[in-house]
Amino acid sequence: MDGWLDIDHLGLRESGTHIVEDVTLTLAAPRTVVLGPNGAGKSTLLRLIHGLLHPGSGRLTWLKPLSQAMVFQRPIMLRTTALENIEYGLKLQGHAAPERRRRAAEALTRVGLESIAGRPARLLSGGEQQRVALARAWALEPELLILDEPTASLDPASTREVERIIGEIAASGTRILMTTHNLGQAKRIAEEIIFIDRGRIVEQTAVARFFTLPQTEAAQRFLQEETP
Ligand SMILES: Nc1ncnc2c1ncn2[C@@H]1O[C@H](COP(=O)(O)OP(=O)(O)OP(=O)(O)O)[C@@H](O)[C@H]1O
Ligand SMILES: [Mg+2]
Repeated sequence: MDGWLDIDHLGLRESGTHIVEDVTLTLAAPRTVVLGPNGAGKSTLLRLIHGLLHPGSGRLTWLKPLSQAMVFQRPIMLRTTALENIEYGLKLQGHAAPERRRRAAEALTRVGLESIAGRPARLLSGGEQQRVALARAWALEPELLILDEPTASLDPASTREVERIIGEIAASGTRILMTTHNLGQAKRIAEEIIFIDRGRIVEQTAVARFFTLPQTEAAQRFLQEETP
């Protein structure tokens, strides 16, 4: 498996405390899930990778330059319709109006929301907004999709729907890098697990091995605590 991102001694400190500390790893899997307790530094690591934060030390080397999109736990909707929310991202990419409309409508259909295209996005339910956010990311056809707890605020039905959409995006060839506190979801989506604790990488391992034979005490404790 060819690596696509090298992370070398990456660190970030904020008011004297290490949020991300000495992270060195290579990302190569098509679907990677980052697990770890609250405050471990998962969101910070994803934001560093997406370029929303500057590392305090170390560096990121893209072995393959990948176009990226990111989806957050709470979808950020513009004050306009669902369809125009999706078109906006395409506009930023420089696509002409007819092409934008066509691709945005197609993306809404793929997430099963074609019937709400003209509705104000901010008035949609949380689950619908998250599907619009996924459609907006998907319409850009990113080579890497980063998702930070995309189903944390959703009910089981919406969670299943979001997982189905992530599965389809992955099947279209987009690499997936995400975090979740839903261990079943991690098992269903991941090929590789990265387990972090207090800003440090503790394990990077194939999904089946992580859940059956975690190598460290920290991971064993985490699995016990997070298993309902
Ligand atoms: N800008 C900041 N200034 C100070 N501390 C910060 C800042 N951003 C994050 N932190 C702290 O860094 C730690 C890691 O935060 P982060 O949000 O990355 O954790 P997380 O693993 O995503 O947690 P969760 O599972 O709760 O989402 C937390 O203790 C957080 O309070
Ligand atoms: Mg987080």
